[in-house]
Amino acid sequence: MLRRFVPFVVLAGLSTFFLFTVFQRESWRRLPQSVGLGEAYGPVEDTKAKTSPGLETSGRLQDERLGQLAKGAFREPKVESNSPYSVGLTKPAGSNYTKCLVVPRLREESTNWIEEELGDMLESGLLSTAVYVVNDRSAPLHPPKNKGHEVMVYLSYIIDSYEQLADTNIFMHAHRFAWHNNELLSTDASLMVRNLSPERVARDGYMNLRCHWDPGCPLWLHPGAVTENFLKPEEWLIADSWAELFPLDPIPSVLAQPCCAQFAVSRERILATPKKRYMEMRDWILRTELSDYLSGRVFEYLWQYIFTASSVHCPSMSACYCDGYGLCFGSPQSFDYWFKLRHEYNGYEEELRIWQAQAVLIETARQRSSTGKLVGEEPLEVPEAGLNKWLMEKMARVGKEMEDLKRNAFELGRDPKQRALEAGREWGEGGGL
Ligand SMILES: *[C@@H]1O[C@H](CO)[C@@H](O)[C@H](O)[C@H]1NC(C)=O
Repeated sequence: MLRRFVPFVVLAGLSTFFLFTVFQRESWRRLPQSVGLGEAYGPVEDTKAKTSPGLETSGRLQDERLGQLAKGAFREPKVESNSPYSVGLTKPAGSNYTKCLVVPRLREESTNWIEEELGDMLESGLLSTAVYVVNDRSAPLHPPKNKGHEVMVYLSYIIDSYEQLADTNIFMHAHRFAWHNNELLSTDASLMVRNLSPERVARDGYMNLRCHWDPGCPLWLHPGAVTENFLKPEEWLIADSWAELFPLDPIPSVLAQPCCAQFAVSRERILATPKKRYMEMRDWILRTELSDYLSGRVFEYLWQYIFTASSVHCPSMSACYCDGYGLCFGSPQSFDYWFKLRHEYNGYEEELRIWQAQAVLIETARQRSSTGKLVGEEPLEVPEAGLNKWLMEKMARVGKEMEDLKRNAFELGRDPKQRALEAGREWGEGGGL
């Protein structure tokens, strides 16, 4: 009896799946032409998706990949970037590069860390700042309107300074410490500015200041999504925004780069796009009805396209640290090992925290009871004697190993040949960094 049903169930399942697929594809194709998907869209991206393993387009596949990533089983896709730009020119070894640090801030926020931490660089005249106060129209530098978060300021700086840009233009947020800053540089923005290699920026033209892929790489936004993903509320808006911002460019199947909109761009690369285009983009920000939160998030995954003409920008993390900041571990494996240690360290730290919390509870209970002894029914877990000491010893040992490895990595990173090696580029004697 049951067996007879099986074919029907299978058939019903298959047709549901088929209808679902068709519906999805149809709703995608039915996006209005004014969205700008155009004729060029389908075939171009389809071929790309087939030839580049990192660029699957389906959201389901992406979720699977993210799952693998979380389990550590993920291999980096071969496609890190499809930028058509050629390698930028560096100056002769030992030359200085001018740098400008571009920062948006609120009137009530402080950016004193720049003077306090980078005073020597400011004094040398090699570092300058462009701090835009977004909600103070009397400030020497302010955007035309406080809208679109950092996007308005970054674009305003480019427009205001287009004719006198620094060699290296560094775009960062106002706060010194942030979770999304680089962990190996103590999540300290000042260390990122201090150690940033202007040569890497000159060569690549565009460098995302965050080396870590998560979140944002290897796949992030799928502009074809037609339903809202609450983790990425900008995803299903991006096709519309794209059509308005880049009406002539086919919409990519995926947009990806490390998160959080902090990056450095060479003068040459900024100048590769006419000033008028930056003005048009700023006009879009001025006019859009999207909330600041959303328009900011849309641009977070457009900057790499604006400056590299590639929708995906996911350079190797160890190469980013080595060539970008001079922290060279010798190989991606040794680089991973440092983060394994850090994971271990965090585990001990967490265990110790729990132990200490238990100890405090026990002590309080002791003090409450008149006899100074524990009443049997207290629902307390007695912390294991000596565990705290053991954990602290472990932490000291692992912490020291991490510090030593980091010191060695900085040492290794002083060798320009090593930087070239880990970044996978040719190095010639006298090539400088
Ligand atoms: C680079 O800048 C420093 C600090 O201003 C200066 O002392 C040095 O002479 C400069 N080097 C070159 C090659 O211009």
